[in-house]
Amino acid sequence: MTKTVGIIGGTGNIGEGLARRICLGGKFDVIIGSREASKACVAADGVVCELKDRKCTATTCSGTTNEDVCSSDILIISLPFERVQGTIETIGKAAFENKIVITLINPMIRNPKEKYFLPDAPAEGSAALAIRKMLPESTRLIAAFNNVAANKWMMLDEELDYSVAVCGDDEEAKKTVMELVGSVSKLKPLDAGPLAMTKVVEGITPLVITIAMRNGLKDVGVYFK
Ligand SMILES: NC(=O)c1ccc[n+]([C@@H]2O[C@H](COP(=O)([O-])OP(=O)(O)OC[C@H]3O[C@@H](n4cnc5c(N)ncnc54)[C@H](OP(=O)(O)O)[C@@H]3O)[C@@H](O)[C@H]2O)c1
Repeated sequence: MTKTVGIIGGTGNIGEGLARRICLGGKFDVIIGSREASKACVAADGVVCELKDRKCTATTCSGTTNEDVCSSDILIISLPFERVQGTIETIGKAAFENKIVITLINPMIRNPKEKYFLPDAPAEGSAALAIRKMLPESTRLIAAFNNVAANKWMMLDEELDYSVAVCGDDEEAKKTVMELVGSVSKLKPLDAGPLAMTKVVEGITPLVITIAMRNGLKDVGVYFK
């Protein structure tokens, strides 16, 4: 049976592109989540149209509330970092018991005068390590997709030809997430060690954005070889 990926905050900049690309990969169905089911349904309709246009019949996309998305096999939390704690509390921690949960969150601050971004990690050292504390112990939290820029997700005529660092403390869950990453365009999943490595991985995105902005580049990304 096709596994389902639920995206909490799936109506955002990243979420909608993520939904399209995962469905087009042909291996996972997607459920888009939102605080408002109607908003998620509109976003999902857009994905379904795109799938039809591209004659992709292998997978489906639907929309519902963030709460109901939690019935999915794999969850992606695609929210601004400061919204995660409140959202987990609203949904209820029990919904995350034993789940594989992916974080792609990179807290950062912008220096508008000098045009650069810096990591803005919480006291735990990274967003992932802070989110680890917000979730039940049985949740298998994995970091992935952190360094792929939002605009690239939506440019569906272009391949996503990047490396994706995958970090986590549960090897089986990490393997499942690497399969998901590998199903998307030309993304190359790489085992980047335990969740503690997100202290490094989350910090790469501000560098990527700063280089893109200061050099007028659209295609900046990470490729390890
Ligand atoms: N942008 C990038 O290039 C990029 C790249 C890699 C990783 N990331 C990470 O991806 C994450 C999502 O980024 P994004 O740009 O997609 O975020 P976003 O568009 O600003 O927000 C995502 C969703 O969060 C929900 N949301 C907004 N305010 C909320 C609140 N007060 N309470 C609960 N939910 C709220 C909204 O969904 P509803 O209104 O439908 O509920 C919104 O669609 C971020 O943590 C970012 O660090 C971003």
